Amino acid sequence: MKVLATHRYPGPAFDEIGDVEVRALAELEGPRPEAEVLVVANEPVPLDLLPGLRLVANFSVGYDRIDLEELTRRGIAVTNTPGVLSAATADLTFALILAARRRVVEADALVRAGEWRSEWANGIVAEELTGSTLGIVGLGRIGQAVARRAQGFELRVLYAQRTRAETELGEYRELYALLAESDIVSIHTPLTPETRGLFDARRLALLRDGACFVNTARGEIVDETALVAELVAGRLRGGLDVFAHEPTVPAELLALPNVVLTPHLGSATRQTREAMTRIVVDNIMAFERGEPLLTPVTV
Ligand code: DGY
Repeated sequence: MKVLATHRYPGPAFDEIGDVEVRALAELEGPRPEAEVLVVANEPVPLDLLPGLRLVANFSVGYDRIDLEELTRRGIAVTNTPGVLSAATADLTFALILAARRRVVEADALVRAGEWRSEWANGIVAEELTGSTLGIVGLGRIGQAVARRAQGFELRVLYAQRTRAETELGEYRELYALLAESDIVSIHTPLTPETRGLFDARRLALLRDGACFVNTARGEIVDETALVAELVAGRLRGGLDVFAHEPTVPAELLALPNVVLTPHLGSATRQTREAMTRIVVDNIMAFERGEPLLTPVTV
């Protein structure tokens, strides 16, 4: 079975794919009818160039750039990599919460610039994390992993999502109430037509002065212009790993001391990325053997 992969995905499992060609989609010069399997990292699939496609194995839990309905209509199966990246993404969420809330990056820049001149007691003072209220939007696998870590920091956890869950991990709130009550808000919903632009100017305005807004989900869930305006005004603090037009980051954010920026690192640990490749390869092998897929995505 001919596999086309848009990268040499990390880890030893990749070498178990027998007949694989590594090529970026932008480099395809014409139709490739022989390719039956495509491995992508949440990239749009050029169906016109791949008429023989039977499986798209997505190296990502999110598949918002893949036209699932069209692929399903054509009988092309799709898989993703759920579960294995929840811990890494939750860890990064806490890295951003801590960095933004305790002003770690600002402080680091001050030391590096040789500007640590005052006594320690007059230096950078931040807001306490312990005992504050964390609002989690989307209590799926990653949201739950964030809520479990929050217990260690003695945070009060609120959550909002479409359906109320039976859970000890946090107290349910309607979204508007969660935004008004939280010191930190962290986004963990997938990007769907319902969540696109969910955090618009009106909802962002509900956040408390000085609240910290963290996004490790998808940039398009937020009205980026409205968020930038709030951050430029200095009313909010931010920890942002994802952006609406990656890899472009709004220029206004680059010099702001009240926002911490990372380049879509949620799943970026060696262990997690290798585990994602393992799932991709296991799905391909199951498909080749005619067995049920391990992690199918359905419409
Ligand atoms: C995913 O898997 O959706 C992540 O965004 C990749 O880091």
